[in-house]
Amino acid sequence: MKRKQKKTAHQVCLLGRLMAKLPSTWPVLYPLYLAAQLDTVEETYASSQWPREFDGLKIAFASDIHYGFLLGEERVKQLAERINALHADIVLLGGDYGEHSTGAVKFFQLRPGFKANIAVLGAFGNHDRVLPEENMEKLAQAMRDDGVIPVLNDAYLLSRNGKQIAFASTDDFFNGTPDLEKVAGLCKNADFTVFFPHNPDILPETQDMPGGPFYQLAICGHTHGGQVAVCGKAIKSSSIYRNRFLSGWFKEAGADILVSNGVGTSGLPVRLGARPQIHLLTMKTKA
Ligand SMILES: [Fe+2]
Repeated sequence: MKRKQKKTAHQVCLLGRLMAKLPSTWPVLYPLYLAAQLDTVEETYASSQWPREFDGLKIAFASDIHYGFLLGEERVKQLAERINALHADIVLLGGDYGEHSTGAVKFFQLRPGFKANIAVLGAFGNHDRVLPEENMEKLAQAMRDDGVIPVLNDAYLLSRNGKQIAFASTDDFFNGTPDLEKVAGLCKNADFTVFFPHNPDILPETQDMPGGPFYQLAICGHTHGGQVAVCGKAIKSSSIYRNRFLSGWFKEAGADILVSNGVGTSGLPVRLGARPQIHLLTMKTKA
């Protein structure tokens, strides 16, 4: 197995060399090559609502890893090393760890070893919820065994000097049973809530809740930035809102939204116009 994965990494290197020697192969090979890359997007997020007590907190985010073909054990270890090197206080994992629930369990059984100064929290994606309910506890246990706290219709609360921030997520929008009322209730005393459901398609429902969104910042994955996108539009969208939450920063109903291109690929192992990403946000209190 290990030999097979080393071979895959070697093939990616060969792909790069072949493209350098034969530019005519670019249209075919570049999307495969791009799918095996990974950018770290480092940004400062400043808000007057972010409590001064948590000024400078670092949040790392990685979503849509899709462990499997082209993203095997070796790249999972490399990903964990990249994330751990960020020395984040909180690491948020945005779901879709494999191509299906069993793949997600196997992903955590690899023991990637994600590390954070405070906590590593994991949401659940549509691919994590395609098999029967009993796999959910198996997946949650596999997450816990790797030091990840599963956040399923739940909130992780952090208090400091009388101020509280919340990191909350629902179940998956497509394949799960999201409970927005419960999650909103858990966050009601927080001074700032970071909502990290897998799929941004759930966000418009929060805008229809009494008082509007219960969070100040949402961080999501799922769209893969279109995975193959031309002129900012997905060739095949995984969102019911098509390109509304394709990639990057948005502001809706007073809340900030960040949608990541994610790490891996689903279906064909190709990308175009949507580079693979992980993120590091440094949270600042705006004067
Ligand atoms: Fe995904």
